[in-house]
Amino acid sequence: MVKAVAAVFVRKVWSGIQSRMLSAQADRVMENGEWEERWQEGRIGFHQPQVHKMLETNIDKVLAGRAHISFFFPLCGKAVDMKWLADMGHSVVGVELAEKAIQQFFEENNMTYSEEPVPSIPGAKVYRNPERNISLYQCDIYKFSSSVQGQFGAIWDRGSLVAINPRDREKYAALIISLMAKDCRYLLDTLLYNPELYKGPPFFVPDEQVHSLFGSSCDIERLLSVDALTDRQRSWGLDYFTENVHLITPKSN
Ligand SMILES: C[S@@+](CC[C@H](N)C(=O)[O-])C[C@H]1O[C@@H](n2cnc3c(N)ncnc32)[C@H](O)[C@@H]1O
Ligand SMILES: *[C@@H]1O[C@H](CO)[C@@H](O)[C@H](O)[C@H]1NC(C)=O
Ligand SMILES: *[C@@H]1O[C@H](CO)[C@@H](O)[C@H](O)[C@H]1NC(C)=O
Repeated sequence: MVKAVAAVFVRKVWSGIQSRMLSAQADRVMENGEWEERWQEGRIGFHQPQVHKMLETNIDKVLAGRAHISFFFPLCGKAVDMKWLADMGHSVVGVELAEKAIQQFFEENNMTYSEEPVPSIPGAKVYRNPERNISLYQCDIYKFSSSVQGQFGAIWDRGSLVAINPRDREKYAALIISLMAKDCRYLLDTLLYNPELYKGPPFFVPDEQVHSLFGSSCDIERLLSVDALTDRQRSWGLDYFTENVHLITPKSN
């Protein structure tokens, strides 16, 4: 009895802390133009020159024995992970606002590319390297849909759910769910820190919210939780910084 009351109390306090933490960043908005400015000015501290450790470590769980998967990269930047997967024979579709990011991706990886308008998305362009089957769409992610390139067998979400504006998370999750094929394996990287100390991006996304965004239609498994605090986050004023990796799969009926 005392135990049960204590558990309810702990849950209440915890959810109170969670909602106060979420509200610390709820109204923060990065305009699309601010991202483009960052690319123009080379303020892209999020970019990593090596394949991301969390993708490398968990790749077998994403592939689950499958070959020639179509991978989706929301908010792709110029992630070298795209080339790594394409070199393994997978196809890659990315979506990115900044033209500069897409051009740098192909140029820095010594790949030629074609550039074409996208009939179904006014104003958008698609950049393709046909030899490696990489297609990068330059447009706002919310203009993309499964009618453009179908659904995907895998998704790698790093610097994406944590980068979109917090108020758009439901809309983003609905889009991602609509892009998942039945056998899709979605690897999601989230970050935990004290949002009262740093305004983001990247934004803080607690596991509880991952469950409220995806849990009704998907199974969610947390694969890893690691301390990722470095001098970069210390310079933002943070005292802890945790990286969580989730594997999200559509519920079978
Ligand atoms: C934090 S970076 C991460 C890039 C990449 N995923 C990586 O790990 O290197 C977020 C990227 O999303 C792009 N972006 C931001 N908002 C977007 C939107 N609404 N639609 C498409 N791309 C967007 C930005 O230009 C930026 O390159
Ligand atoms: C590229 O990938 C798509 C989707 O997986 C596939 O339908 C298409 O046949 C591939 N094209 C080439 C040239 O490999
Ligand atoms: C691209 O080519 C340059 C010059 O040949 C070379 O230095 C660089 O390592 C290449 N980059 C990649 C990713 O292969």
